[in-house]
Amino acid sequence: MRASPAIPAAALKLSVAPMMDWTDTHCRVFHRLLAPNARLYSEMVHANAVIHGDRDRLLAMDSCEHPVALQLGGSEPALLAQAARIGVAHGFDEINLNCGCPSDRVQAGRFGACLMREPGLVAESVAAMVGAVDAPVTVKCRLGVDDDHDWRRFLAFIDTVADAGCRSFVIHARNAWLKGLSPKENREVPPLRYDWAYRLKQERPELQVVVNGGIADHDEALAHVSQVDGAMLGRAAYHDPYLLHRLDATLFGTPLRTRGELLRALRPHVDAQLARGVALKHIARHLLGLFHGQPGGRAFRQVLSEGAHKPGADWQLLDAALAVTGEARRIAA
Ligand SMILES: Cc1cc2nc3c(=O)[nH]c(=O)nc-3n(C[C@H](O)[C@H](O)[C@H](O)COP(=O)(O)O)c2cc1C
Repeated sequence: MRASPAIPAAALKLSVAPMMDWTDTHCRVFHRLLAPNARLYSEMVHANAVIHGDRDRLLAMDSCEHPVALQLGGSEPALLAQAARIGVAHGFDEINLNCGCPSDRVQAGRFGACLMREPGLVAESVAAMVGAVDAPVTVKCRLGVDDDHDWRRFLAFIDTVADAGCRSFVIHARNAWLKGLSPKENREVPPLRYDWAYRLKQERPELQVVVNGGIADHDEALAHVSQVDGAMLGRAAYHDPYLLHRLDATLFGTPLRTRGELLRALRPHVDAQLARGVALKHIARHLLGLFHGQPGGRAFRQVLSEGAHKPGADWQLLDAALAVTGEARRIAA
């Protein structure tokens, strides 16, 4: 059986989770600026959409984003293989299969977390993608579904998928409850059990294991990196993006820049997108948390959210938002 190439160890330490409606190309460009060494993930795109949909929009990606993974949804091996090929041809560095999403829509389509009950089908899908592309093919999954807390069943899922050629797993370290919980509740209610991700790494040291779920701050992320190959942050990275910058600095020695410096470094991207006709609101919405917890952070957010949707909004709005922060006031003093 052909094995997917391993991801270099350093490129696994820090990653930003795939998040529908959030981790689009503008968000990823911003995150790349903050964390030059993080691995970035797209929103989930269904294999059928990749094949038949508007690829320019669905697979939009900027060359500064590398390394960046395309996350696919689906469970038909031939379609996934075709979508993986298209994704890699578009420049994505990794193809990740979603085996963790619990939404009703996804269950109806027989993909996402319910695939944890079908390790054979996931293995077939992985084998088809590994056969189709030279890039790493990885899987993001939960610990189990509903009230199944059987370690051996979880390990058998991983082993079956690893035998099909997958070497890297992102473990969202809680179960998915497929009945009665919304996707949002499914990110909060089922208890986190990081010990299973750690145990997986101990029992299968040849596999690359990244832990995800509820990682809220810098020190927590570092503690995970000392146990497994990497930490993947979702909501904390989105709502407090400067956390990514601090983690990149700690893990990779990247020189620390201020929030204002980082924002100003985004200007070429913003100007280029505005020139292409992209409205500022599509970029600004990802920047709202940059001054999270800082003096003037709320005012920064307010200036952006009130102004970004207005016709003609441009870089001046970002300058105006920056001006109300404590950082700008400190520099001016
Ligand atoms: C708005 C939102 C959208 C998400 N969309 C996806 C998705 O497309 N694919 C996926 O595998 N997980 C998705 N997730 C789950 C995250 O990738 C992650 O597993 C989860 O939020 C737990 O990590 P966190 O506690 O660090 O946020 C989404 C989460 C959020 C908040």
